[in-house]
Amino acid sequence: EAIKSSIAAADATNADELEAYRMKYISKKSVVGELFAGMRDIPNEQKKAYGQTVNEVKQLAEAKFQELIEKVNSSSTKSKSSDLDLTLPPSNISAGGVHPLTATRQRIIEIFERIGFNLSEGPEIEDDWHNFTALNFPENHPAREMQDTFFIEKNPDIALRTHTSSVQVRVMENQKPPIRTLSPGRVFRNEAISARAHCIFHQVEGLYVDENVGFADLKNTLYHFAKEMFGKETKVRFRPSFFPFTEPSAEIDISCQLCGGKGCNVCKGTGWVEIGGSGMVDPNVLENCGIDSKKYTGFAFGMGIERIAMLKYQIKDLRLFTENDVRFLKQFRSMV
Ligand code: PHE
Repeated sequence: EAIKSSIAAADATNADELEAYRMKYISKKSVVGELFAGMRDIPNEQKKAYGQTVNEVKQLAEAKFQELIEKVNSSSTKSKSSDLDLTLPPSNISAGGVHPLTATRQRIIEIFERIGFNLSEGPEIEDDWHNFTALNFPENHPAREMQDTFFIEKNPDIALRTHTSSVQVRVMENQKPPIRTLSPGRVFRNEAISARAHCIFHQVEGLYVDENVGFADLKNTLYHFAKEMFGKETKVRFRPSFFPFTEPSAEIDISCQLCGGKGCNVCKGTGWVEIGGSGMVDPNVLENCGIDSKKYTGFAFGMGIERIAMLKYQIKDLRLFTENDVRFLKQFRSMV
C-alpha cells in the first residue's frame, strides 16, 4: 500500500526525473522489481495472493510512467507562458562580418563606378578563344605558359579562366563602343600555394574603348584609383612590360604602403610594390572582337584583389583569406 501511494504521488517534469522514476519503480532493480524477487521467500499457499498484489503494483507503476512520459513530452514542446521571463537580457548573438576580400572588391568597384565604369561578369569555365586566342595569344606560344592553366579533363579547348580578360572579350563581342567596364571575378592558375600565391584568387580587370583613348587616360585613371584606394600620398609608376593583348604594356607599381616608400621587407627595399598589369589594347584584339581598330582605341588593366587587400590591411600571408580562422576574420567585422 505504501508503494502504491508513493507511485500515485510521483511526478516528473523533465527527462532526468522521468529516468529517475523509471529506475525507482520500473527497472529490474526497482522497488517493484524487488517485490517480484521476494516471491521465492513467500510460503506456497500465499504465493497466489502475493503475486496478484505485486502485479497490481506493477501495472500501476507502468500506467503512471506512461502518464509522466506524455506530460514531459508536451511540456517540452510548449513552454508555459509562466516559464518565460521577458526581463532577462538576450543571449549573446555574435554577428558575422564582411570578408576582407569582399570589402576590398566593393571598394574597388565603388571607385570605378563613380568614374563611369559598369560591371560585367562571365563564366569561370572558359574556352580557349575567350581566355587566349581572341586575346592575341598565338597557338602554342610560350606566353600561354605564363599563366599555368588548369584544363578540364582531356579537352584542351576548355579551361578554368586564368584571368578575367576573358570577360572583356565577351563584352567587346556583344557591345559597341564606348565601353567602360570592370570585370571582378575568381581566376585559377596551377601554382603552388604560398604566402604570396594561390591557385585560386580574385582579379578585377578594367577596359575602356572609345575614340581617341590614349595612354594618358590609362595613367590618369590608375592614378585616381591608387589615391582613392590607398590615400592621397600614394605614388604610382609604370614599368614597361609584355602582355600579348596590350601594346605598349606596363606593370603598375605603387609606393609601398608599409614603409611609405622608404624600403622594407615587403617591397624588398625598393619602396615600390606591384599591383597589376596594364596597357593599350592591341588592335588585333579589337578586330578579333569585331571592333574597328582604325576608329577605336582602348586601354585595359588587371589587378589582384588579394594583393590590394594585403597592402591595404597589411596582411602578410595570402592563405589567411581562405583559412576561415575567425581570429583573422573578426578583425574586419566593423567594415561594411
Ligand atoms: N590579364 C593580365 C593578367 O592576368 C593582367 C592585365 C590585364 C594586363 C589587362 C594588361 C591589361 O596577368
